[in-house]
Amino acid sequence: MTTVQLDFTISLDGFMTGPNVSVKHPMGEGGLRLHEWILTDQMSDADARISREAATSVGAVIIGRRMFEVGVGVWDDTPFPVPTFVMTHEPREPLVMTSGTFTFVNEGIESALQQASAVAGEKHVRLMSGTVAQQCLNAGLVDEIHVQIAPVLLGCGRRLFDELRTAQVELERTAVIESPRVTHLHFRVVKPA
Ligand SMILES: NC(=O)c1ccc[n+]([C@@H]2O[C@H](COP(=O)([O-])OP(=O)(O)OC[C@H]3O[C@@H](n4cnc5c(N)ncnc54)[C@H](OP(=O)(O)O)[C@@H]3O)[C@@H](O)[C@H]2O)c1
Repeated sequence: MTTVQLDFTISLDGFMTGPNVSVKHPMGEGGLRLHEWILTDQMSDADARISREAATSVGAVIIGRRMFEVGVGVWDDTPFPVPTFVMTHEPREPLVMTSGTFTFVNEGIESALQQASAVAGEKHVRLMSGTVAQQCLNAGLVDEIHVQIAPVLLGCGRRLFDELRTAQVELERTAVIESPRVTHLHFRVVKPA
């Protein structure tokens, strides 16, 4: 069965981007600091293994329109070589890239998740945008949370968990993996009985 997973790097003060996200600064001003652990050519063994596992286990991706707009020029493709669903209120024809297709969804997050799960098979549906991740958490549709805490305080930008409407989400910690540039924390979302 497909697992719905969110996977983000955040600062110690909870920011997933710096301020003023734009095509020039897809992670916001100063926000690229968060991804130094992936961008370096001297990744630790643990970082390389986790990054490899994440890439090979993804079967479909859901992002929001902002992620699409600031990301597509950088990727020049889909973010992973799998079908990618883009949440937007604006109807748009599918966009075929080299290793996957962007499908634009405006019928709500449940529809996006249904379409993504249908193509992901046994692999993960990866949530790669803050608004998408939080809508899925609010709807009780997330199975796993992977966050990497970068050793930096950004002070401003967009926080990952700023728009949660659910009163409480119980988590079971499944892994803590230390690395010089980032600390990996993995959680399973405990679903109500
Ligand atoms: N730190 C990390 O590890 C990490 C990882 C991935 C991404 N990021 C960053 O995250 C940012 C993008 O995430 P974000 O949360 O700011 O924005 P986002 O979710 O990518 O985009 C928000 C937009 O998505 C559309 N949308 C969302 N939910 C919808 C729904 N239910 N129905 C219809 N449309 C919907 C809306 O677009 P319309 O206005 O078109 O309707 C909305 O304005 C980027 O800056 C990216 O670089 C960081």
